Amino acid sequence: MIVLGIESSCDDTGAAVVTDSKEILGDALQSQEEHKQYGGVVPEIAARAHLEHVDEIISVCMQRARIDLKDVDAIAASAGPGLIGGVVVGVMTAKALALALNKPFVAVNHLEAHALCARIASDVRFPYLLLLVSGGHCQILVVKDVGEYERLGTTIDDAAGEAFDKVAKMLNLGYPGGPMIEKLAATGDDSRFTLPRPLIGSGDCNLSFSGLKTAVRKIIESYSPDGSIEHAILPKQDVADVCACFQMTATDCLVRKLEKAIKYFKENYPDGQDLVVSGGVAANTYLRSALKNLAARYDLDFAAPPIRFCTDNGVMVAWAGLERFRKGFTSPLDFKPRPRWPLDENAPKAPGAGGVKA
Ligand code: KG4
Ligand code: ZN
Repeated sequence: MIVLGIESSCDDTGAAVVTDSKEILGDALQSQEEHKQYGGVVPEIAARAHLEHVDEIISVCMQRARIDLKDVDAIAASAGPGLIGGVVVGVMTAKALALALNKPFVAVNHLEAHALCARIASDVRFPYLLLLVSGGHCQILVVKDVGEYERLGTTIDDAAGEAFDKVAKMLNLGYPGGPMIEKLAATGDDSRFTLPRPLIGSGDCNLSFSGLKTAVRKIIESYSPDGSIEHAILPKQDVADVCACFQMTATDCLVRKLEKAIKYFKENYPDGQDLVVSGGVAANTYLRSALKNLAARYDLDFAAPPIRFCTDNGVMVAWAGLERFRKGFTSPLDFKPRPRWPLDENAPKAPGAGGVKA
């Protein structure tokens, strides 16, 4: 079984061809540089760039795969959630190919693509506990099966990646902020500043990063002669110290909420054996090693996609498309792209659903 997947929901145009024996036959990715100067993704610029590059990315992917489009069994695309202009580009392209080649179309939830991605590279079994941390989302879920999720917690304000990006912007480190913060944090002192851990005592698995970000802002402003963040001048070492403190605190918040989730998971899913992290922030090696230790403490196996498949890419979409297709899930050609698309929307509502009480 061979599936082509297309990703275009944010600022990466990706295509990949994967097989049910977990081979990546071909893969091509173009990360848009156009947004760097704005410190965040500009939706209209992103949509235009996807439109410009998607055909070429697919043909490079097919050349690398050394197969013909007619050898593909299904065509998948990220159909939401995401920036609608970009999503439409990928979905329309996939539908056009499906129609022309007379192959099934598979609409993939972008979050499901992140959620299932670890399964292409490692032997992760259902059910597993997942921390999904990206630029737009921050959720703790039980992945029961393809298309079956129980959400245990979510951020009530910023996503984890968004917090990394906003802190990086305040420190003039460019976009995306995560990789730069990780790099500088490695030379910083994580005990230099004490930062708050919002919602830590809330008793549920929800997260909040807004107060943490504001606390970082106040530290940066204290370096400004007039108290404004624009005029703040931080010595290099202090920038590294802020990065280290922020990364350590954000990680600690995630670890502590996951600890609650693990207890619930073990009680309610006794067959579950794996803790998985995915999404762009899962590329962070400091977070990965903290989660590896956490998993070991609770006798769980830890898995994460290879670093290059944590941020958006075509492989995860092709793989999720394949997992759906082999279960018999395909989508009609009039499927409407969805800017909002919760993973657990079809889940039966358990009493007290919406957050696990400790
Ligand atoms: O999954 P992704 O590519 O896009 C979304 O679906 O949102 O995630 C992008 C996010 C950005 O916020 C970026 O700063 C963050 O992932 N990120 C990182 C790292 N690499 C990417 N955050 C922390 N550490 C990293 N090494
Ligand atoms: Zn993503």
